[in-house]
Amino acid sequence: MCGIVGILGQGPVAGSLVDALKRLEYRGYDSAGIATLENGKLARRRAEGKLRNLEALLREQPLNGSVGIGHTRWATHGRPTENNAHPHATDKLAVVHNGIIENFRELRDELIAKGHEFVTQTDTEAVAHLVTEAINHGLSPEQAVAISLPRLKGAFALALLFAGEDNLLIGARRGAPLAVGYGEGGEMYLGSDALALAAFTDTITYLEDGDWVILRRGSAEFRNEANEPVFRAKLKTQASAFLVDKGNYRHFMAKEIHEQPEVVARTLAHYIDFSTGTVRLPFELPFDAKKLTGLTVTACGTAYYAGLVAKYWFERFARLRVEIDVASEFRYREAPLPDEGLMIVVSQSGETADSLASLRYAKAHGQKIVGVVNVPTSTIARESDVAAPTLAGPEIGVASTKAFTCQLTVLAALAVALGRARGVLDAASEQRLVNELMVVPGLLAEALKLETGIEVLAHQLGKATDVLYLGRGTSYPLALEGALKLKEISYIHAEGYAAGELKHGPIALIDEQLPVIVIAPTDPVLEKTVSNLQEVSARGGRI
Ligand code: F6R
Repeated sequence: MCGIVGILGQGPVAGSLVDALKRLEYRGYDSAGIATLENGKLARRRAEGKLRNLEALLREQPLNGSVGIGHTRWATHGRPTENNAHPHATDKLAVVHNGIIENFRELRDELIAKGHEFVTQTDTEAVAHLVTEAINHGLSPEQAVAISLPRLKGAFALALLFAGEDNLLIGARRGAPLAVGYGEGGEMYLGSDALALAAFTDTITYLEDGDWVILRRGSAEFRNEANEPVFRAKLKTQASAFLVDKGNYRHFMAKEIHEQPEVVARTLAHYIDFSTGTVRLPFELPFDAKKLTGLTVTACGTAYYAGLVAKYWFERFARLRVEIDVASEFRYREAPLPDEGLMIVVSQSGETADSLASLRYAKAHGQKIVGVVNVPTSTIARESDVAAPTLAGPEIGVASTKAFTCQLTVLAALAVALGRARGVLDAASEQRLVNELMVVPGLLAEALKLETGIEVLAHQLGKATDVLYLGRGTSYPLALEGALKLKEISYIHAEGYAAGELKHGPIALIDEQLPVIVIAPTDPVLEKTVSNLQEVSARGGRI
């Protein structure tokens, strides 16, 4: 994910722009850049690779100017070179962009025909030239943005800086988050998340989807998609409280893995009355649970796998039919949805575009929406009928870890609550399940003590080129999640499989070279899983 920052400052902003980009490093990036106005003229510095390369360049060629924008880029259109790094600029403006402009080819062809010269392989450059074309026709920057935004297709957040406009920044949001920050002495900020702005201010406004904003020192003027002036409330964020360093850990991911006992306990305490051993949801269900006819779950990546585990729980404990799909498929499937149906959307950020589009589809088709989200101010949280918070705290590491276990915690509590409300679970069954949930933080702490042994194993697995993960029942989605984590973090090819599917094809892959990781807790399908293990060991597989 890319990161955006913009500052309308009182003094030079280059250093603060780079500092803010450092707080966005957790999102992952492969190049970075900033642009400022020096005596009314646009000036840029960009570098491939890590921010230290940009800092070195700025030491050699410093940038002055009290207004500027910055960006960390994760390459999508065009290789991660300095030339493709943001900001992209013309003689009139510089722009940084998160997301994808889907119709950039069409725009580029049109603008080339009008004499614009494109010098990068990015989709973003089309935005720079589109707005420039309008300015060349005599429009002000604000008018030029207003007529250009409706021409852009896709999901994006933008920040624009204009030549000769020392008191102006414009931001726009469609599908990708963007926030405005309010600083001391009229300083104003733009950021792709609250963390980017946390060192400057704890007072922010999130743009609603489709909004754009005109920033001047001391003022923010919000417009909606129809270009009407709109009021957007200021919020106090918690982000500064989480401006945490990595402590004694080498990475945020390691730290977050170790936070799991604490954040899962915190999340449980929000959903469970420990004194009575019952689930106590922190909100009213916006539907009659007894009348529910079906549940649709949708999410992306790790959040989807949390939903897939929960499918087993909702079917078993609440006797609900569950339909689950990844949001990028669901949103285009035009699936018929049940009358009196419920959709659960699971998302750490609460901003994932496909998940949000699925939510909107389901809402338009009469479903009640429960959003299981980690960011309470996010769009998915706000657009759900009920936001069920995961209390994981900010997840800085690029891979979802503690958010996943907190999602499972909330989904388990919801499954028990629905089971009880639908009369499937009696009081004794509820108490038994709640007792099992209450020991989870302690078990997580025990599991983390295995780290040294796991590290030894990791060194052996690190030599593999492929790894197979197997599981049955709720361990099947866990196998999928394990394979995703290995791919994402180690760049080792991995596949997750339902253990019972092994004999239907993938068994052909098994030999002495292929490590097979089996998730096999003591559960009703353990014996079945053990027979699958025998198939693996008969072919010499390393289990
Ligand atoms: C994997 C990972 C991603 C996210 C996915 C959904 O480690 O982090 O697969 O789980 O992009 O993101 P959210 O939960 O923010 O909707």
